[in-house]
Amino acid sequence: MSSPEAQAWQDLGPVEAFPAGEVREATAGKGKVAISCKDGKFGVISGVCNHVGGPLGEGRLDSEYVVCPWHNWKFHRSTGQGEPGFEQDCVPSYESKVEGGHLWVRVQAATQRHKAPHERHPLARPVVRESGPIRVAGISTTAMDAANPRYSTSDALLEYPLNTARPMAMRRASSG
Ligand code: FES
Repeated sequence: MSSPEAQAWQDLGPVEAFPAGEVREATAGKGKVAISCKDGKFGVISGVCNHVGGPLGEGRLDSEYVVCPWHNWKFHRSTGQGEPGFEQDCVPSYESKVEGGHLWVRVQAATQRHKAPHERHPLARPVVRESGPIRVAGISTTAMDAANPRYSTSDALLEYPLNTARPMAMRRASSG
């Protein structure tokens, strides 16, 4: 049986703080939630993605789905179910209501988290340690496209040699 606190409703603030077509993050109880509003209906699901914990509350809406900003997994904005083909991969969903111009959420989740496997990315392969000297490589990957522009570590790393090489080339040109 759940505690009275878990049964409680929590005020998330004025409904204007949750504009239509966008996803917002808030804290409900001890956890983060992702809140969306579409066609006048609010949806509240866990703010923690099933994949590797990405912040769903910082994602975006694609029709009825919240898209995780890290690798684009999608969860239904009201039920928490995964996108078609991955319905068994669910994040918790929460009951919500509007009262006195504020959005309220029930702290106790209405549905539970359930993880179901996704097939491996076609580029994924087992990590195998080959014999020989230690070789170190750092590779950072993100699902980045026009709809998901994000900070790129590889772009940032490239900036350094570009910014260093340009002044050196200019110095050489002016001294030669
Ligand atoms: S953490 Fe959400 S898709 Fe990877």
